[in-house]
Amino acid sequence: MRLLVSKHSVGKWAAYYIYKKIIEFKPTIAKPFILGLPTGTTPIEMYQELIKLYQDNKLSFKHVISFNMDEYVGLPKEHPQSYHHYMHNNFFDHIDINHNNIYILDGNASNLELECKKFEENILQSGGLDLIVGGVGEDGHIAFNEPGSSLTSLTRVKRLNYNTILANSRFFNNNISQTPSLALTMGIKTILDAKDIVILAKGVKKASAVANAIEGAVSGMYPITALQMHNKVVIVCDEFATYNLKVRTVRYFEDIKDEYSLIGDNIDSFSCGLETSKWLI
Ligand code: GLP
Repeated sequence: MRLLVSKHSVGKWAAYYIYKKIIEFKPTIAKPFILGLPTGTTPIEMYQELIKLYQDNKLSFKHVISFNMDEYVGLPKEHPQSYHHYMHNNFFDHIDINHNNIYILDGNASNLELECKKFEENILQSGGLDLIVGGVGEDGHIAFNEPGSSLTSLTRVKRLNYNTILANSRFFNNNISQTPSLALTMGIKTILDAKDIVILAKGVKKASAVANAIEGAVSGMYPITALQMHNKVVIVCDEFATYNLKVRTVRYFEDIKDEYSLIGDNIDSFSCGLETSKWLI
């Protein structure tokens, strides 16, 4: 597990990291790059930066296959709060991704279990996720893996807990009864099977989740702690999100990080801060 406290912007760091990974991978039609993607407020800036990179002809998504982490059950795809709508509106409609390469769980499928099974099969058939980027809920959930999730879970139907429904109700007229209470989500194992994991966290509301993720004990009651079992995870956050960590924890990760910069906002001078130092296993 690594922690990077971004001096610049969490979203820009994430976009540049994705850029670097895709460029290094040199994807082709026969060897596409498999990318897991999140929704939420936190990644919006990342999508805006990725769109800029595409518009500046620095990055193409032609040979990228994307898998989204989760989707509500029962919301029409065109609903402004569906994750289908979010992804197309904030990202896919503005880049050159082949729309056949977009996998988003269908929360209106007649057989939800089958839908989840097919999704897992599609990930496997694609060769597995090369990189997944995610956010974190205030209670430590990742994707829609709520506290109490199995650490070996795969994509499945999940009932959302009160905290998550309450947090999400801000997008549904602050009305809990209008807020979906069921979702389809990648499982914790699905996420852990990715080769590379990046978690984005911004603001003091995420401070407890970040502290538990790094200093807490692994527990299904705190799903993000499961990432401690993966050998290549980085949590990228702003300073506010570090407020519940011990000072010495933050200092330790600062000390082992390489210098990194976004000098002049220039992608060419970007170094992710993790290049020469070893990942912690
Ligand atoms: C929802 C999503 C998660 C996301 C979380 C935090 O629960 N299912 O994937 O990480 O919200 O979102 P935000 O970035 O808006 O705080």
